[in-house]
Amino acid sequence: MIGCLLVFFAGSINMSKAQKQVVVNTQNSSLVLTIGKDGTLYQSYFGKRTSDATQKQLSEKQDVESYVPAGGHDLFEPAIRVVHTDGNPSLQLKAVDYKTEKINDDNAVTTITLKDAVYPVKVLLHFSAFYKEDVLKSWTEISHQEAKPIRVTNFASSMLHFNADHYWLTQFHGDWAEEMKMQESELTSGIKIVDSKLGTRADMYQTPVFMLSLNDKSTENTGELVAGTLGWTGNFQFAFELDPTNKLRVVSGMNPYASDYVLDAGKVLTTPEFVFTYSAQGKGKASRSLHSWARNYGVLNGKGSRYTLLNNWEATQFDFDEKKLEGLFDETKQLGVDMFLLDDGWFANKYPRNNDDAGLGDWQENKKKLPNGLGHLVREATDKGVKFGIWIEPEMVNPKSELYEQHPDWVLKLQNRPEDYFRNQLVLDLVNPRVQQFVYDMVDQMLTKNPGIAYIKWDCNRMMTNTFSPYLKDRQSNTYIDYVKAFYSVLEKLRQKYPTLPIMLCSGGSGRIDYGALKYFTEFWPSDNTDPYERVFIQWGYSYFFPSKTLSSHVTSWGKQSLKFRTDVAMMGRLGFDIDVAKMTKDELKFSQDAVVNYKRLSSVIWNGNMYRLIDPYHNERADLMYVDDSKTKAVLFSYNLHPRYGTDWTPVKLEGLDPEKTYTVKEINLFPGSHSELAENSKQFTGEYLMTTGLNVSKSKEYTSSIVEITQQ
Ligand code: DGJ
Repeated sequence: MIGCLLVFFAGSINMSKAQKQVVVNTQNSSLVLTIGKDGTLYQSYFGKRTSDATQKQLSEKQDVESYVPAGGHDLFEPAIRVVHTDGNPSLQLKAVDYKTEKINDDNAVTTITLKDAVYPVKVLLHFSAFYKEDVLKSWTEISHQEAKPIRVTNFASSMLHFNADHYWLTQFHGDWAEEMKMQESELTSGIKIVDSKLGTRADMYQTPVFMLSLNDKSTENTGELVAGTLGWTGNFQFAFELDPTNKLRVVSGMNPYASDYVLDAGKVLTTPEFVFTYSAQGKGKASRSLHSWARNYGVLNGKGSRYTLLNNWEATQFDFDEKKLEGLFDETKQLGVDMFLLDDGWFANKYPRNNDDAGLGDWQENKKKLPNGLGHLVREATDKGVKFGIWIEPEMVNPKSELYEQHPDWVLKLQNRPEDYFRNQLVLDLVNPRVQQFVYDMVDQMLTKNPGIAYIKWDCNRMMTNTFSPYLKDRQSNTYIDYVKAFYSVLEKLRQKYPTLPIMLCSGGSGRIDYGALKYFTEFWPSDNTDPYERVFIQWGYSYFFPSKTLSSHVTSWGKQSLKFRTDVAMMGRLGFDIDVAKMTKDELKFSQDAVVNYKRLSSVIWNGNMYRLIDPYHNERADLMYVDDSKTKAVLFSYNLHPRYGTDWTPVKLEGLDPEKTYTVKEINLFPGSHSELAENSKQFTGEYLMTTGLNVSKSKEYTSSIVEITQQ
């Protein structure tokens, strides 16, 4: 247990001029901060868990200021920069007190209060430590009591310092339908920025996540690294700056781009949470720590189950009516999944939503397509024994809509410039409280009128361009930050009334994938690209930071691979189908039904188990990963063969995470009707030690083939 860490303590620095040490421990990591005699806060250590005796020695070592303000003697990237009312652009921060509060047996929050001696500016640094999970969160609160508003031009959530021989940065980049491409490079002197400026979403080109290996590159099971991600559904920035002495600082937070924040006296600018973990055992351990934290704390209903579903987007697009949908309810039932999810196209009358150029914003059922309304659909679905979910995109509007006609001043748009469309739509000015009320009311009224709605897919199909909030008038540089805060405040209010309703976070494919939003959402849409070959890589990428139960993966008709391969890929996440079930052959339907049964039997291991990435598709023509439950009694192996060259002889895949002493039965599942397992070890028993040292001959040389193997303790 955490021991003395969780004993509440507090200190007032002014009371004594002695040096103080503030230690934030998790099971396997320590962050040691030292408050010097003059109140300067130093980072003395961050890394592998150290003993109390070592920590005491560390406190003598005051090498780097922890949260560096701009305007003083430091010439590198600052954590914070403030321009005071009188134009003075400097801050000198000294710690005036600190405290640690126990939240529960696993979690304690340390807060250090920093103040400027001359200007009435206060900065609270928070460090929340999750002991068992080995995860830390840090964020700040900035406030002041000056006569007029101040401008905060840099506002990091975290500044961390490292001293290693080499630094290896793993970042994830992409674009629509090609998300989460992993790249690793050595940091060189100067500054490397990974950021986004998309406004309504964190990512598209860059994802708000990174891994930083110290000294040598890490592997899955070896190496020292920090994995970090910012919980912010908007512009983010990670700055990695290597100074002339080869020391590195990592500054993480909201992107300062075009965002000099005008802050009134008495108001607090709270920065988003930077979530990070230190691992001395490679990337696999870092991912498992983040997954476990996410399930316990980071994701709405993180421990709960998820619905399997049939979505109609790929199969029908906008072309459906009540009758067609009722038929799809039957197919949902036939498939055996829990829910039918009705996608885009069900609303708007004056400008019907028959394609993406009209109707967005007019959230009344389209009378032609749905003459009896949503209520009828919900009842029909319920009568047929399936749940009903629905798509919305409440922050956006088509200019061809009644909403736009009535409220042309409710959109973000630049004066004296033409409106700039993306997917024929504009972003609503969510900073405006009337727009927030509109969005809240739209969702609330839909749910009040149709209490049977069991699920929402909340989409957001564009980023901000020509960004200007008519509501904010002369405070335009607050727009990016206030938009995201407004988004959270609408969700906060909705969650008070609908605390458990599952909601998928979608953003024209990926884009809104971050732990700031996942406090309110149960899962996310990783990419519009559902070609299973691409999905192996995309899902692999997300697996570094997000647990499988948050990754919506649907079987669709993208890609030419077999239905088995497509299904096997979708089963490593939260399984769904978005496919024309009526076009399936008898065998395909039978295979899919069996797959749903298998998935339901194994979903608890897939969702809540510890994940081990075994063979990496970036360096091999195959990909293998597995999940093992906490008690090591059940495991599932997913094995995908990509483009092996003719004659490739694969080595056996060595499993991980099992109990070497236990005996397990190995059984290949998800076999297509009429086929049989080619796995040499199928239906035999092995010790965990055998499976982890010798492995399974599961890989095949034929491209786009796959196996799922269920491993059960005897
Ligand atoms: C983009 C999403 O990513 C798709 O899944 C689908 O919901 C469309 N929007 C609907 O417009």
